[in-house]
Amino acid sequence: MKCIMFHQLFVLIDIFFTIGMADTRLVNHSDNLTDITWAHAVDSQKYLLEVLNSDIDFIEADILLGVIDSNTDNEHLIPIMAHPPATTSDITLESFLEQIQNHNRIVEPSKVKGVKLDFKTIDAFEASISIINNIYDMQSFPTWINADILAGPVNNTETIPVDPKRFFDGIKQLGPVVLSIGWTTKWSQSSLEGCYTKEHINAMTSTINENLSDEHGKSITFPVRAGIAANSLEHLTSLYETLKEKHNVTFTIWSSENDAVDVEKLRQFIFNFGVNKVYVDVPTDLKNQLHLGNVSLL
Ligand SMILES: *[C@@H]1O[C@H](CO)[C@@H](O)[C@H](O)[C@H]1NC(C)=O
Ligand SMILES: *[C@@H]1O[C@H](CO)[C@@H](O)[C@H](O)[C@H]1NC(C)=O
Ligand SMILES: *[C@@H]1O[C@H](CO)[C@@H](O)[C@H](O)[C@H]1NC(C)=O
Ligand SMILES: *[C@@H]1O[C@H](CO)[C@@H](O)[C@H](O)[C@H]1NC(C)=O
Ligand SMILES: *[C@@H]1O[C@H](CO)[C@@H](O)[C@H](O)[C@H]1NC(C)=O
Ligand SMILES: *[C@@H]1O[C@H](CO)[C@@H](O)[C@H](O)[C@H]1NC(C)=O
Repeated sequence: MKCIMFHQLFVLIDIFFTIGMADTRLVNHSDNLTDITWAHAVDSQKYLLEVLNSDIDFIEADILLGVIDSNTDNEHLIPIMAHPPATTSDITLESFLEQIQNHNRIVEPSKVKGVKLDFKTIDAFEASISIINNIYDMQSFPTWINADILAGPVNNTETIPVDPKRFFDGIKQLGPVVLSIGWTTKWSQSSLEGCYTKEHINAMTSTINENLSDEHGKSITFPVRAGIAANSLEHLTSLYETLKEKHNVTFTIWSSENDAVDVEKLRQFIFNFGVNKVYVDVPTDLKNQLHLGNVSLL
C-alpha cells in the first residue's frame, strides 16, 4: 500500500494556527492563504483588463513561444500569453507584465496583484528571463514561476516535464521569485486511487538539494492536485519536514473541473498544515465544500 495513511495522527497537531489579518493580503503575506483568490489562463488582453479591474488577488497565466496575431513576421517567435494548443495571442509577455506592474504601482498595497507565470516548455522560460528581469519589480510584487519539473502521479508518462537542471539554471539568473515547482499529473473524474509517492518526494528533494544547494531561504510552493494531495498527507508532510529548515515551503492545491476529490481528506490535509501554509486554488464548488471557516467540522 504505497499511499497508506495514518493522517489522524497528524490532524490535531497544527490546528491552532494564528488568526491573521486578512486585509493585508498579499503584501504582508496573509496568515490565511486559503483566502487568496485566483484568476486562471489570463492569456488575452481583454481578460487581463477584466482581472485588473476585479478583486482577484493572483493572476495565473501561461507563456509559450509564438507570435502576435497582428504580426505578419511569423518566423520570429517571442514569449506570448497562450496555452497549448494555441500558438498565437493578442498579448506578449512583455506587455502583460508592464500592465500588471503599472496597476501595482498606483494602487494601495492591499490591492496589489500577484502574478504566477506558468511555463510548459523550457524554451519559453529561457526566452522570458531577460524580459522578466528588465520589466518586472519582483522585489515589490509577488512573482511566481511555475513549472512541472518531474514526472508524477498516477504513472504519468504522457506529459514531458520541464527540464529541471535548465529550469534551476534559469531561476538563478532571475530576481527574487517564488518557485512553484511540481510534478506532471494524470487524474480522472472517477479514480480515487494514487498518491504522491515516496519516490516522487525523493526525486523532488534531491533535485532541490542539488540544484539549490547554495540558495537558502528560497520560497518554494508545491502545486499539488487536490484529488491526489488528499491521498498524500504522509508523504507531503515528509517533503515539508525535509525542506522547511532551509526554505519557506507552502503548498498550492489546484484541481481540474470535475476531478475526483475526497473532500474530507483534503480538509484534513489543509488543516494539518494550517491555512497559513496552503493556498487553495480550486473551482468554487469544491472550495465551498471544504468549509474552510469551520475547523470544528474535523
Ligand atoms: C505591512 O506591514 C508593515 C509593517 O508591519 C506595515 O507598516 C504596513 O502598513 C503593512 N502593509 C499593509 C498593506 O497592511
Ligand atoms: C502504476 O504502475 C504500477 C507499477 O507499474 C502499477 O502497479 C499500477 O497499477 C499503475 N497504476 C495505475 C493507476 O495505472
Ligand atoms: C539538478 O537536477 C537534475 C535533475 O534532477 C540533476 O540531474 C542534476 O544532477 C542536479 N544537480 C546539479 C548540480 O545540476
Ligand atoms: C521565510 O520568509 C520570512 C518572511 O519573508 C522570512 O522572515 C524567513 O526568514 C524565511 N524563512 C526561511 C527559512 O528562509
Ligand atoms: C480563511 O479564509 C477562508 C476563505 O476565505 C475562510 O473561509 C476562513 O474563515 C478563513 N480562516 C481564518 C482563520 O481566517
Ligand atoms: C461547523 O460545523 C459544526 C458541525 O457540523 C456545526 O455545528 C457548526 O454550526 C458549524 N459552524 C459554522 C460557523 O458553520
